[in-house]
Amino acid sequence: MTAIHTRLTKFLGIDHPIISAPMAFAASGRLAAAVSAAGGLGLIGGGYGDAAWLEESFDEAGNQPVGCGFITWSLAENPSLLDLVLERRPQAMMFSFGDASSFVEKTKSQDIKVICQVQSVAQARDAADWGADIIIAQGSEAGGHGAIRATLPLVPAVVDAVGDRAIVVAAGGIADGRGLAAALTLGAEGVLMGTRFYCSEEAMVEGEAHDLAVAANGDSTVKSSVVDHVRGKTWPSPYKLHTLPNAYLDKWHGNEDALLAQIEQETQAYDQAGADSDYNTRAVIVGEGVGLINTTEPAATMIENCIAEAVGSLRGSFALVK
Ligand SMILES: Cc1cc2nc3c(=O)[nH]c(=O)nc-3n(C[C@H](O)[C@H](O)[C@H](O)COP(=O)(O)O)c2cc1C
Repeated sequence: MTAIHTRLTKFLGIDHPIISAPMAFAASGRLAAAVSAAGGLGLIGGGYGDAAWLEESFDEAGNQPVGCGFITWSLAENPSLLDLVLERRPQAMMFSFGDASSFVEKTKSQDIKVICQVQSVAQARDAADWGADIIIAQGSEAGGHGAIRATLPLVPAVVDAVGDRAIVVAAGGIADGRGLAAALTLGAEGVLMGTRFYCSEEAMVEGEAHDLAVAANGDSTVKSSVVDHVRGKTWPSPYKLHTLPNAYLDKWHGNEDALLAQIEQETQAYDQAGADSDYNTRAVIVGEGVGLINTTEPAATMIENCIAEAVGSLRGSFALVK
C-alpha cells in the first residue's frame, strides 16, 4: 500500500496518520488494538472513568501499543484514574474538554506522549503552553461532544497559531480519504476519526445502533444537552452532544426546562431504554460524517480504504496544478 508519512507518523512511530477517537462507551481495547495493529494509533475511551473497565480494556488490547483518552473535567473529579492508566504505559494520553495542565505535566513527567483536543484557537494556545505534543483541532461536525467552530476554518487557524510548537491533527466530519486529504492540505499532520470507527466491527456498539448509523443521512444530526441531562452529566458550556435524531430528542430538545422538572423519572426511562436497546429513546452518538458511511467493516479495512482514497485525492488535486 502507498503510505502517507507526516510528522505525526514519525513522532508516534506509526504507519498511517490516523488516530481512532477515545469514544466513551464505544472504544474499548478491542477497537484500539485493531487500529494500532492496522498501522494507526488506537485510543481506549476512558470517558467518564471506570477503573475496572479501564483495566479490562488494557488487558483486551494485549501487547498492541494503544493510548487512552479522558474527558478532562470528569477526570478532575477522580484524578487517580490517570495513575491507573499511566501504570499501563500507554502509547499516548489524550485529554479533552477542560484545563488539563496538571494532567499534561504528570503524563509528560513519566515520559508518555500527550495529545490535547481543542475546539478553539485560544484553547490550542493553552494546550501548547501546557506542553502538549499533539493538538487535535476538533470542529463542530464531530460526533460526541463538541463546540462551535467548524473544522474547515479551525484547522488552519490552529496550525498557524501553534503548528511550530505541536503537531496539529484534524477532527470533526472526517470519515474517509477525501477528508484525510483535505486535512493534510489544510496543514494538519493527520486525522482523528470517531464516527467512522464507531461503525467498525470492533467498536462496542450494538447491531441496532450500527444499522441506524449506516442508514443515516448527514443532513439530520442534532446537537443537544438532553442526553447529558438524563445521564446526569453536567457538561460545561458551550459543549453539546452530537447524535442522530430520535423520538426522545424530538420530544425534549428545546424543552429542557420541562425535562429537568421530571428528571428522575426520565433518567430511569433512559437507563431502561439502554437495557432494552430502544433507540427511539437511546441516542446514537455520531457526527455529520455519518452520511459518508454506508457499511460496517473491520477497522483495518477502514484504514486501508482511507489511505488509498486520500492518496488518490491528493494525486488528483496535484494533477490540476499546471
Ligand atoms: C460515540 C462517540 C463518543 C465520543 N466520546 C468521546 C470521549 O469520551 N472523549 C473525547 O475526547 N471525545 C469523544 N468523542 C469525540 C471524538 O474525540 C472526536 O472529536 C470526534 O469523534 C471526531 O469527529 P468525527 O466523529 O466526525 O470523526 C466521541 C465521539 C463519538 C462519535
